[in-house]
Amino acid sequence: MQITVTVNGVEYTRDVEPRLLLVHFLRDELGLTGTHWGCDTSNCGVCVVLLDGLPAKSCTVLAVMADGHEVRTVEGLAGADGLDPVQQAFSDMHGLQCGFCTPGMLLTSRALLDRNPDPSPAEIREAISGQVCRCTGYENIVRAVRAAADRAAEAGTAAGTVTS
Ligand code: FES
Ligand code: FES
Repeated sequence: MQITVTVNGVEYTRDVEPRLLLVHFLRDELGLTGTHWGCDTSNCGVCVVLLDGLPAKSCTVLAVMADGHEVRTVEGLAGADGLDPVQQAFSDMHGLQCGFCTPGMLLTSRALLDRNPDPSPAEIREAISGQVCRCTGYENIVRAVRAAADRAAEAGTAAGTVTS
């Protein structure tokens, strides 16, 4: 089937098998390997991308289901002005170790701050509850998301989004 998907603002048209998963479309067809593939059973959350602005586990979405839609991956987070505030905060607050879970964590956090610029720690934990980190524990991740929210507020930008 021929599909056209907009990924990080770029339109891609490809012929794909109907059974191809979005995670494999992104990684193998487009070479966007920042989206990780872990459990393949919808449990770990490392494959999360934003589908029309909402977090979606790309191992549970067929590529054909993304036809005509917009996908944002971790490669599309940084903008012309540099890292997204969430990326910077994860770096500053040691919100990652091996980094395997990080792309999904970043995108889920970005989506949370876009809809709720001032989340409580409990709301942050709920937002990332579908994602497993095997390394850091979640304390620094929650701190990083809060730090991104605080910096965005200080900078006077409602959600701190950096768009390219
Ligand atoms: S690879 Fe998608 S949830 Fe684990
Ligand atoms: S930083 Fe290693 S799995 Fe989260």
